[in-house]
Amino acid sequence: MSPNAKTVVAADVVHLDSDDEDDVGGGGGGRGRGLSLIENPQIPSTSADATVAPLETLECRSFWKAGESFVTPNAVSQAAPGMLEHARVHPKFLHSNATSHKWAFGAIAELLDNAVDEIQNGATFVKIDKIDIVKNNSPALVFQDDGAGMDPNGIRKCMSLGYSSKKSNTTIGQYGNGFKTSTMRLGADAIVFSRSTRSGKATQSVGLLSYTFLRRTGQDDVIVPMIDIDISKGRPEPIIYGSSEDWSTNLDILLKWSPFSTKDELLQQFDGIGTHGTKVIIYNLWLNDEGIYELSFDDDDEDIRLRDESVHDGKRVHPKELERRSHISYRLRYSLRAYASLLYLEKFKNFKIILRGIPVKQFNIADEFRYPEIIKYRPQIATIEQATTEIKVGFIKEAPALAVCGFNVYHKNRLIRPFWKVTMDGSALGNGVVGVLEANFIEPAHDKQDFERSSLFQRLEARLKKIVYDYWTSHCHVFGYRTPQMPADKSKRTPIPDQPPTVNTFNPFPSHSQGSGPIIREISISNATSVRTVAAPPPHMRNSTGVRNNFQPVELNPQPAVTDTRNKLGGKSVEEISQENIQLFMKCEEYGKKETEMEQTVRNLQKELEEAKSKCAQLAMLVDAKKKEMQQV
Ligand SMILES: Nc1ncnc2c1ncn2[C@@H]1O[C@H](COP(=O)(O)OP(=O)(O)O)[C@@H](O)[C@H]1O
Ligand SMILES: [Mg+2]
Repeated sequence: MSPNAKTVVAADVVHLDSDDEDDVGGGGGGRGRGLSLIENPQIPSTSADATVAPLETLECRSFWKAGESFVTPNAVSQAAPGMLEHARVHPKFLHSNATSHKWAFGAIAELLDNAVDEIQNGATFVKIDKIDIVKNNSPALVFQDDGAGMDPNGIRKCMSLGYSSKKSNTTIGQYGNGFKTSTMRLGADAIVFSRSTRSGKATQSVGLLSYTFLRRTGQDDVIVPMIDIDISKGRPEPIIYGSSEDWSTNLDILLKWSPFSTKDELLQQFDGIGTHGTKVIIYNLWLNDEGIYELSFDDDDEDIRLRDESVHDGKRVHPKELERRSHISYRLRYSLRAYASLLYLEKFKNFKIILRGIPVKQFNIADEFRYPEIIKYRPQIATIEQATTEIKVGFIKEAPALAVCGFNVYHKNRLIRPFWKVTMDGSALGNGVVGVLEANFIEPAHDKQDFERSSLFQRLEARLKKIVYDYWTSHCHVFGYRTPQMPADKSKRTPIPDQPPTVNTFNPFPSHSQGSGPIIREISISNATSVRTVAAPPPHMRNSTGVRNNFQPVELNPQPAVTDTRNKLGGKSVEEISQENIQLFMKCEEYGKKETEMEQTVRNLQKELEEAKSKCAQLAMLVDAKKKEMQQV
């Protein structure tokens, strides 16, 4: 590039190859048909010259504020001469797109997914680590895998929006957006190094997705500087699509805006990659609102942690609460090692996630369930074939001491919702009951932390509620909760030994010998008599609405004996009654929740009232003082 030139046309920087979409390899770089993030960009000369300090950072380093005060031009710039008009992607979009990840670990998971998707291309590991950037003495995140890597066309897909090379049913990636959202969620800038051999051609490519560069140079389109090098022959050869000047311009921008100041330093990054693989470095990591790095590397040098606000709020924590926080269901929120251990359902045979030099041990909570059961679930959609999934359910080994519950729901082997609590907050029903399932029949949301709210999802949710309810009804007695048949005397609780896993033993309508505890209403049938029991809290546990946890069944007036013992009661089948029971139970839970909310509102209002009163008193004193002052004058 001529240092004096006003602008430099870097037309070949990011054009997608016009090859067939199926061809990931392609040997790319030619003019593309597809809409890429960047096309024919006019890069201001200042973006690569030496007048600006190296590795400049943004004024705002907090992710949630980094999209603010962005001046967006009123008009969209014209396409360069000879180029077709195309929709632009303003750099601000990189930030807004990344806000889909509320949780930084969700973004990290996307990058792990990309490596895991490479298992089918021979990947055996993904390493996640922290490195220190010498240029500005700051930490950076590194992801490195030994997958097939990306050729020039592949890396362009990686850095463009909506392009995915994944069409297989087994891959996790599908939207072609994960790389962009995740890197931009974790830091302002990301540089990618990838090496691959396709069609007998060995190449290495470097691409830079830099929010800092785009903002600081006032771009109104997302420009991604890239260089490709042919390493098939003895000597590495730059792959030039336009002119060699374009190649150098791209290199200059890379050196100016990446953590590496010289070409040698930059290319040294390939040293650890081997013949194929990908390395992603995310730098200028975002800070939280308090101005500290969101990710902590110092709390544990074998882990990457997120700040756990509740741990740092300085308040004394009850030992019971400490116990809850030591469980994986809580730890996964802030410990990457804990989260990564649950992230993939199947145990890898020949693949490792290596976090800060130490492999992550995969963990499936279902492996240590007590009283495990497996329920087959088939979503009620005729178009989905073979969609039957197995739901494993059981008590966690810490039950009943720990009130952890919920379902770990996976999609295509990847954890989407950890410990999804399907019962209402504040309810003890289901405490200690955890489930695990893979639900490939529903679609994950874009951040892969939840599912889209389809009718299939809603049906699944209702079913899971019923599963918890039924499991609890048939098993809670093992921890001493009373059942209609069991005496209230706690000393008579019979401990039941753990049972081996059972397949399809789930009984949606528990027999009275299994008993029930915390039910709202239950009809138990015996040969001769029928006893109606309703769950009601003992007086000392009742509150204003009468709703409390750990209901004790209370016997009401015995009902006339039921003659039809074939699951028919008063014209209703046991199934109907059971459904009604669940509905009532859920309603009850809803009221319970509402009550808690209202109590909170009352507390808030009382607080406000107190504050207003004290303000009023202060003002009255002030007025008095003023009056006295005036009288003295
Ligand atoms: N670590 C990697 N190794 C090889 N190819 C990758 C890697 N990361 C991303 N890619 C390529 O970039 C494309 C886009 O990635 P991404 O934005 O995560 O979307 P998706 O995973 O949904 O396809 C992928 O389809 C894949 O071709
Ligand atoms: Mg992906």
